[in-house]
Amino acid sequence: MKESVLVTGGAGFIGSHTTVELVEAGFGVVIADNLSNAELSAVENVRKITGQEIPFEEVDCCCYEDFEKLFLKYKFNSVIHFAASKAVGESVAEPLQYYRNNLGSFMNVLELMKEHGVENIVFSSSATVYGQPDKLPTTEQTPRQPATSPYGNTKQICEDVLRDSIAAYAGIKGIALRYFNPIGAHPSALIGELPKGVPSNLVPFITQTAAGIRKELSVFGDDYNTPDGSCLRDYIDVVDLAKAHVVAVNRMIQNKGKARYEIFNIGTGKPTSVLELVNAFERVNGVQVPHKIVGRRPGDVEAVWADTTLANTELGWKAERTLDQTLASAWAWEKHLRNIK
Ligand code: UD1
Repeated sequence: MKESVLVTGGAGFIGSHTTVELVEAGFGVVIADNLSNAELSAVENVRKITGQEIPFEEVDCCCYEDFEKLFLKYKFNSVIHFAASKAVGESVAEPLQYYRNNLGSFMNVLELMKEHGVENIVFSSSATVYGQPDKLPTTEQTPRQPATSPYGNTKQICEDVLRDSIAAYAGIKGIALRYFNPIGAHPSALIGELPKGVPSNLVPFITQTAAGIRKELSVFGDDYNTPDGSCLRDYIDVVDLAKAHVVAVNRMIQNKGKARYEIFNIGTGKPTSVLELVNAFERVNGVQVPHKIVGRRPGDVEAVWADTTLANTELGWKAERTLDQTLASAWAWEKHLRNIK
């Protein structure tokens, strides 16, 4: 029988790309999404890319009874849990909504896995758990810093909930992947990031500015202690990131893990500044991104990038696409969305 994976949040940015990679690797996938921050068209395009009628269930993972129906209808071996709210600013304004949604849905996932004998879980964590690390690059052993937003706190709490649940329930194994900054789009340009309203992340803002939807990009600060004064991040291609999930699921199925709960950084290991990214985008795509330097954005860390040794050696995963390829894919996706030739 095909190994079957439940992908919660599978209509979203990372979830849709991961579904494609899972299907192409031979997994059976069921997508669950409440479409609160995603479009059904993403599911249709995932079907188009893979040529498979992947089942889609519109469900809110926070509703235990509704969510349980999926576990009764299908038989899963693994869950990849993406379904969560992710806007930092919104989480500061609506903390209860964030705690309820991100913690509630994750606890339902674990509870239902326990009840229905599902063994493996991959959890979408974030480099946000490191805050501003004292030493760079960060390894998985780098101490977590107190979260600076409710969103960041939900990632830390969910990691702890996962650790404690795995310690207590012998039937469950898990891997938390700490994503650095996921960007780019599928090479088909059929799926990509679909932010609602004004994007708060850098690359969607750049692509929308290049498309003429936004007048100008604000570069938040050029007075940081970095080579060009703008912040440093580790921008990871979303397809590379998606593949890390396939490797993680296979690792658990094949019992290759050294422990039942493992954490891996998923990044490129290379820092890129905001200004470098903007320049690279303009060069690769031959388009202008009007931008100006403004003040720092509250809550931003100066620099963070991954030590990916553990993912490279232990997981056997490595980022493959170059930043140029990734930025070209981001622009191809924006052009596809806006019908730009
Ligand atoms: C942010 C979140 C992080 C979350 C991630 C999800 C914060 C503080 N962190 O990461 O917790 O996991 O998104 O993708 O919000 N920038 C500009 N102009 C813009 C937008 C961004 O200069 O219009 C700069 C930022 O200052 C930062 C870099 O671009 O230096 C990346 O920003 P962004 O894409 O928002 O990601 P992070 O802040 O790193």
